Amino acid sequence: MKKQKVRKNKQQISGRTSRKNPTTSILSSPPTTKKPSTAASTASSKEKVYTAHKGDNAKLIRNVCELYVKDGDYVADVTFGKGSFWRSTDASRFNLMASDILSCKDKPYDLTDLPYDDASLDHFVLDPPYMHTPGKPMVDKRYRNSETTRAMYHGDIMSKLYAGGMIESRRTLKNRGMLWVKCQDEIQSGKQVWSHIELYNMALAFGFYAKDMFVLLSNSQPPVQAQQQHARRNHSYLWIFEKKPQ
Ligand SMILES: C[S@@+](CC[C@H](N)C(=O)[O-])C[C@H]1O[C@@H](n2cnc3c(N)ncnc32)[C@H](O)[C@@H]1O
Repeated sequence: MKKQKVRKNKQQISGRTSRKNPTTSILSSPPTTKKPSTAASTASSKEKVYTAHKGDNAKLIRNVCELYVKDGDYVADVTFGKGSFWRSTDASRFNLMASDILSCKDKPYDLTDLPYDDASLDHFVLDPPYMHTPGKPMVDKRYRNSETTRAMYHGDIMSKLYAGGMIESRRTLKNRGMLWVKCQDEIQSGKQVWSHIELYNMALAFGFYAKDMFVLLSNSQPPVQAQQQHARRNHSYLWIFEKKPQ
């Protein structure tokens, strides 16, 4: 696919338009003598951000944004789904570019082949279906996972969706840009598969540094199987990887 300019593809969610003058976007920011404020310095004057959260993704994402997303940053959510990540966040202060192969009818981009320029993004948010689907996962109705992961086993999800996304993030992120990876470990054929460890190793192999990891403790009860073989899983992870300069 022909890569187009990021600015041409910029999309604010819910049809919002950017408040910023495009001529002063970070892609063409004028030189300044003023020390730029960082997201971390802004966060330091607010509530502290912790690694463990109880509740839903939206509040976790809001905290991650406070810590890491600067005003005017380009943030590509390439598995936008229903946009529930952004429900508690004021996304008008940065440029949120939403795409999803199924749910974004006007931007149905495959996360492994995005129309964004090389080194144009500050953040790349990756939350593909994380459960293999020969069975019937509980989240299927909501996210129609079986349509995009039909007959995929754990290894396929890792190699096609996560690795494919990481390779595309490496291309599209600026140096020191951040790759956010949402994941949950799972059981396949009665055996644990530690996705968060596999993804950590994968990201390091692709030239990222593991800057942070958040643990989300779910409010809802995990599905109950007839006979319990392992502890019920009621937590997930959000990795924040940083692209090492090339
Ligand atoms: C777990 S959901 C994402 C939920 C989302 N973070 C939210 O807040 O609503 C996974 C999403 O990945 C999308 N998806 C699966 N394969 C994809 C691909 N190859 N390219 C882009 N999106 C894909 C699915 O359509 C689905 O919406």
